[in-house]
Amino acid sequence: MKYFVDKSSEWQALAKHYEEICSVHLRDLFKDTKRFDTFSIHDPNLSLLIDYSKNRITDKTMHLLIDLAQKAQIKERIADMFSGKKINVTENRAVLHTALRNMSTHEILVDGQNIILEIQKSFDRVHLLSEQIRNGKWKGSSGKAIQDIVHIGIGGSDLGPRIVYEALRFYHNGPRVHFVANIDGADIHEVVKSLKPETTLFIVASKSFTTAETLQNLITARAWLGKHDLKNHCIAITTNKAAAQKEGINEAHILPLWDFVGGRYSLWSAIGLSLACAFGFDRFCELLDGAHAADQHFLNTPYEKNIPIILAVLGIWYNNFFALETHAVIPYSNYLWLFPSYLQQLDMESNGKSVDMEGNSIQYQTGPIIWGAIGTNAQHSFFQLLHQGTKIVPLDFIGFKKPLVQIGEHHEKLMSNFFGQTKALAFGSEHENSYKRFEGNRPSTTFLFEQLTPRALGSLLALYEHKVFVQGLIWRINSFDQFGVELGKKIASDIFVEMSEKKIKNHDSSTQGLLKAYFNFS
Ligand code: F6P
Repeated sequence: MKYFVDKSSEWQALAKHYEEICSVHLRDLFKDTKRFDTFSIHDPNLSLLIDYSKNRITDKTMHLLIDLAQKAQIKERIADMFSGKKINVTENRAVLHTALRNMSTHEILVDGQNIILEIQKSFDRVHLLSEQIRNGKWKGSSGKAIQDIVHIGIGGSDLGPRIVYEALRFYHNGPRVHFVANIDGADIHEVVKSLKPETTLFIVASKSFTTAETLQNLITARAWLGKHDLKNHCIAITTNKAAAQKEGINEAHILPLWDFVGGRYSLWSAIGLSLACAFGFDRFCELLDGAHAADQHFLNTPYEKNIPIILAVLGIWYNNFFALETHAVIPYSNYLWLFPSYLQQLDMESNGKSVDMEGNSIQYQTGPIIWGAIGTNAQHSFFQLLHQGTKIVPLDFIGFKKPLVQIGEHHEKLMSNFFGQTKALAFGSEHENSYKRFEGNRPSTTFLFEQLTPRALGSLLALYEHKVFVQGLIWRINSFDQFGVELGKKIASDIFVEMSEKKIKNHDSSTQGLLKAYFNFS
């Protein structure tokens, strides 16, 4: 049971099938010349082609994996999520980030409240504020227009908006946006050192408004503003209005967030205000629209052609049968350099769990370790291991047909690497010199989008969100809580009190020794 969720016939059939296929080479599987047609999906509405033919699968594998997904009643669970059922059972919350990007529905009820009306009202405010900030009507306390926005937040309140900001830099046409997340003072210091208080606006994103890093950075921001009142230089987005007001933020400048939006899914909410300022509200809506298109695909496409379901079961195949512990993502776009970090939170905070929905300890493997970096840079660092190491790492390659920046032959050269690497990984190459031999049989999935537009980015992020959700369902875990981050926070806050009082309590000898060394106690 180290890898399999249970002993049901679906898991048994896959385990048996794994024995038949585990040593079959992709070179042999590709003797079927129709393999690409069988194992690729083109969705024109997403401007996306997914090629999963370079995975270690056959028709039978996919049938068995789809059986597994059907047994987990994925389609029924998707409907539950979209309709507002409280599927985050450990926190008794609905999970409705999909409602944030659904411009066509008029009503979804949560606890008797129509949340669509609330969402629309908040977007009206995002629209208005972003326009005011972009066109200079929002004035700081000295009457000057805003030139720089400093977005303060951490985790989903940082990585979500930050990946979009980086990915869409090409479209930037508003105030500069800077991001501050770390409690290390160096972060905010380096950001504000070249800014002027009178033309800077802080946007503080925190679902809880209790997060230590964000509150400390807000304190530092307030001090840095000096005579410029926080009231004219700060907007907050939070579920905890009272806490934001207590910190001195003008009530009129607090935008709402709700329990039905998880932190790592919050970029689609008013937390995207910094993005609407940077790119314009219409571009922000295009991002939402792309995510909505992916939602519709997820909701309405049968299992066999459903991209998030296919990606999810491929991940299960490698994680729970091949016993591969990591999964890497390699975007071939410089603009997507932050995507692996964003995906780490999305996937590892969601599915890094070892207790099932019923509270039982899990005896099988759940979420993989996610990592990666952009191509071609990654080719010159860790690709050696991917090609010739003893570990097999399933990979996602993400590329675009048309470049945003067309200079000389850059794009063609970039994309020749994109195609060449998956080929080399899958098929390898013989050589009489063993050092120069490539075994191949290393699986990858290729995402080929038309172009890196806000809409395509929205679709990309939403497809991964849904993949993670499907995997959580198959592993029977709640992908929407994150209790695993609490213990470290609690111990840090206790130690902070001890450090402030210079009274070190009894700890284990390691922690004690380190604290003593820090304070130079004998
Ligand atoms: O690290 C845990 C976490 O709760 C994340 O899930 C969340 O995105 C982050 O902290 C920030 O939380 P908040 O938005 O409440 O400040």
